[in-house]
Amino acid sequence: MVNVALPKGRLGEKVYNFFKAAGFECTSIEEPSRKLIFENPEKGVRYFWVKPSDVAIYVERGAADIGVAGKDILLEYSPDVYELLDLNLGKCRMAVAAKADFRDSASKTLRVATKFPNIAEKFYSSKSRDIDIIKLNGSIEIAPILGLSDVIVDIVETGTTLKENDLEVVETIVPISARLIANKSGYKFKNEEILAITEGLAKQLEMSK
Ligand code: PRP
Repeated sequence: MVNVALPKGRLGEKVYNFFKAAGFECTSIEEPSRKLIFENPEKGVRYFWVKPSDVAIYVERGAADIGVAGKDILLEYSPDVYELLDLNLGKCRMAVAAKADFRDSASKTLRVATKFPNIAEKFYSSKSRDIDIIKLNGSIEIAPILGLSDVIVDIVETGTTLKENDLEVVETIVPISARLIANKSGYKFKNEEILAITEGLAKQLEMSK
């Protein structure tokens, strides 16, 4: 049995449909319920819904053999896992945003509000820019409006959240999409099964192009 950690929520449903199309369906997961673990022994898969930001933890520690995590989480936490496939789902970008009238002044430490302190740290250190990170857990867009920060580093998908809060993208840091990841020892011991899933997903990807 291959244990698969799926990101709970909108992205997770798309991801599961992808696994299904690749031949790894599990009908019980499609029924409305609050259960979190589902298995299809015939297909050799056991799925669990976990918080998207926790997928990499389950996979890194081997509680799941494979999983689907956003590149944002992989860049932020650098989990010790294999990245097997770009699923081209959940596409968005990590960007710096600010109020339209924001003007950066290199002489001042830049106050950066973000859920992704490591990504922000790395981005600004590559520019040799001094910053003060303000770590928040959500609703990041409010920070520059209330004067808590000068800019934010956050995920931009449609751009609606920024627009509706009078913020603009200043710079894109990196494009983001969902990735299939594997536990390193699981990949060795369940290699055949994991490869079958990876190839099935890769084939679906090709067909959807
Ligand atoms: C993300 C991100 C932005 C929003 C961007 O938040 O932090 O707030 O989505 O999407 P948009 O460009 O399509 O408007 P998410 O929905 O993940 O909620 P969170 O802030 O609670 O993590």
